[in-house]
Amino acid sequence: METGKGQLAIKCMGLTRRFGNFTAVDGLTLNVKKGELFGFLGPNGAGKTTTISMLTTLLAPSAGNAIVAGFNLKEEGALVRSRIGVVPQQFSLFEELTPIENLWYIGELYEMDREVVRKRTEEILKIVTLYDKKDVPAGTFSGGMKQRLSVAAGLLHSPEIIFMDEPTTGLDPQSRIALRELTLTLNQTGMTVIYTTHDMAEADVLCERIGIMDHGKLIALGTPKELKALKGYGHKIVLEIGRHPPHLVDELKRIAGANSATSDGHHVELRVQKMREGAVQKIVEFLASHGLTLIDIDVSEPTLEEVFISLTKKELRD
Ligand SMILES: Nc1ncnc2c1ncn2[C@@H]1O[C@H](COP(=O)(O)OP(=O)(O)O)[C@@H](O)[C@H]1O
Ligand SMILES: [Mg+2]
Repeated sequence: METGKGQLAIKCMGLTRRFGNFTAVDGLTLNVKKGELFGFLGPNGAGKTTTISMLTTLLAPSAGNAIVAGFNLKEEGALVRSRIGVVPQQFSLFEELTPIENLWYIGELYEMDREVVRKRTEEILKIVTLYDKKDVPAGTFSGGMKQRLSVAAGLLHSPEIIFMDEPTTGLDPQSRIALRELTLTLNQTGMTVIYTTHDMAEADVLCERIGIMDHGKLIALGTPKELKALKGYGHKIVLEIGRHPPHLVDELKRIAGANSATSDGHHVELRVQKMREGAVQKIVEFLASHGLTLIDIDVSEPTLEEVFISLTKKELRD
């Protein structure tokens, strides 16, 4: 199978999970390459955690299967578990134990060599910047520190793939940034990262590739750039020109080479794939010939949020 050396970290083949009559994950088929920072993006209830639970062997698929770290999910669960680390959505470590004790406990659970655990614990606590808190009970930690300790726990047995389920949800902005940086650091050491989030902007800045999920289905897959290109325009340009006659709008559309142009009476919004060369200059001159000035110009890319809305015809549910 092509998951051998250097290619695929995960191959999902029609992965499905039902709870009674309800289908939480519906025929998920996709590949994640080794070393990728891959994001599952979707609103609450989309099926992200159920997907992670299946891929980490916590939940059996109702149908389909996957190859994870080169092993068959259904038939080689123990081997899969030996090669993956998991950072669950809920903090699941012991509050009364210190980081050192928590990691020691996990080492015992995995029956790891105690000397390896001792060395690795130091190393990992430095990576997650909790080394100076190594002897403080986790119950006293902030949300961000607990989450970093969860990451440390997931890293103890040097996994090839780490699954992080909404690791930044509920954290303050600074902790969120610290955790994203930690995620990038792990990925830069060559680890495959599977990351879930309902935060479109976070997925956009962090993930190399994103699978957008809604109601258990994969509705789009690609790099943030590819996904944003699905909107069919490259940029949104808003020209603030003050009160203007309606017929100018079509003229501006033509000059800019835009796909569409709309006006609210004061601003003209253009959707363009690529601005024609010299278009801004021509726009300024054209406006001047009608006694108007370009008061302000704002250029923005489509957001993943807009992509989600155009794919699902609805706002992102939180
Ligand atoms: N053990 C369960 N029993 C019944 N329904 C469940 C169970 N776990 C999850 N679900 C349902 O499956 C859907 C997907 O849940 P989940 O995978 O947790 O979504 P997400 O992580 O994207 O928020 C939700 O509608 C949820 O209520
Ligand atoms: Mg979830």
